Amino acid sequence: MYVCVCMAVTDRQIREAAEAGARNLKDLRRDLGVTSECGSCATHARRCLAEANESQRQAAKVKRTTV
Ligand code: FES
Repeated sequence: MYVCVCMAVTDRQIREAAEAGARNLKDLRRDLGVTSECGSCATHARRCLAEANESQRQAAKVKRTTV
């Protein structure tokens, strides 16, 4: 699903950016151009990134407890 229509950025790309180290909206703007035009995607992009980062934290936590 498109999160940023202006720059044609999808939620999948945001998850991939999170896996590559993006931690905040500034990182997404630098890496993908999110919010660099109209800015109306900021709230959804921030939420999408937060969910991706939380998923990574949970996965790391599970990995630590199973090793
Ligand atoms: S929808 Fe993202 S900058 Fe316009």
